[in-house]
Amino acid sequence: MRSTVCTAAALAALALPLPAPAGTWAEVQAILQERCVFCHSGDAAPLGLVLESHAGLMAGSENGPVVVPGAPAESALIARLTGAAEPRMPLDGPPFLEPAQIAAVEAWIAAGAPGPPGGAAAAAAPPSAPADPMADGRVTYDEVAAIFGRHCIECHSENSKMEAPPEGLRLDSYASVLAGGDRLAVLPGNAQASEVIRRVEGLAEPRMPFDGPPWLTGAEIALLRAWIDGGALSAGGVPAPVPVGARLRIRGVMTGASEIDGAAFEITPATRIDDRPSVGSAAELRGRIGPDGRILAERLRDR
Ligand code: HEC
Ligand code: HEC
Repeated sequence: MRSTVCTAAALAALALPLPAPAGTWAEVQAILQERCVFCHSGDAAPLGLVLESHAGLMAGSENGPVVVPGAPAESALIARLTGAAEPRMPLDGPPFLEPAQIAAVEAWIAAGAPGPPGGAAAAAAPPSAPADPMADGRVTYDEVAAIFGRHCIECHSENSKMEAPPEGLRLDSYASVLAGGDRLAVLPGNAQASEVIRRVEGLAEPRMPFDGPPWLTGAEIALLRAWIDGGALSAGGVPAPVPVGARLRIRGVMTGASEIDGAAFEITPATRIDDRPSVGSAAELRGRIGPDGRILAERLRDR
């Protein structure tokens, strides 16, 4: 009995309204640091919206201001956090922000969107120079995740602005990138045969990102290539397993007797060949990944 009473009292205490958020920049900054700057930083920030500083946030995006001081309901920032405008932010959610976190951002805007105490100069931490991900000679997933985050997952995720991730392909986690969609998207150790690379380079149509241009920069593509050729390491540095048996399709131009756009495959006695495509002609290859990562052709045809 006693314990029941205690539980009821505890529940009553929990139901008390939370203290109203103070509406300070410090609260907002902590949220942005934790959930937003991963994508919204530097030159590659989506829509030019940089969330690393008060000045960046107030400068807004290519579309204009995202914060209207004193008017949370008119601020695009809030609409994105609640999902009133899509895609909802943070783009890599769920989880999205807690209601209390959204309330803190609203309170800050309602309070006039004040900057750091002492002004921008007091708080101006020198922007940290981005570390060169290739400096140590190996690229891990955490070093390429922001490329997918900034350019791909607005469509290729559950939070997709399309009805469903196209071709079943999600690019919002290490496991989903490796799993691919209807077919393989990344073949660890073989960037040239990986559909992700073929799409961002425009070797395969339609080129990605689907709503481009802009396309990925040369540096971004080079980083993705290095990550895949280096074995598609996890964030912890573990090489990806060989996706034995996974299905793959390459539509391109024959650059050798058993090579499409520089990606080698193997013809086996089981390969079905219709109108053997000659070097220089357009072809479609369907195959599976063998135990050693080689591409075993199942079907090759002229296109
Ligand atoms: C995984 C990457 C990623 C993360 C994390 C992320 N965003 Fe975004 N954000 C994007 C992309 C990509 C777009 C452009 C999408 C589009 O076409 O609307 C965008 C757009 C926006 C916009 C729209 C700007 C405009 O001009 O309409 C706002 C506002 C925004 N983000 C705020 C945030 C906030 C706040 C957070 C953290 C709570 C956040 N984002 C986290 C990738 C991200
Ligand atoms: C605006 C939405 C959108 C964005 C952004 C986008 N994609 Fe796509 N993606 C699509 C659509 C739609 C398709 C299906 C197109 C088709 O092949 O007809 C697709 C197909 C693909 C495929 C082929 C999958 C298969 O099995 O054939 C790959 C790989 C791919 N995208 C990778 C990417 C990468 C990498 C990025 C980011 C650099 C990206 N996409 C950004 C919409 C998008």
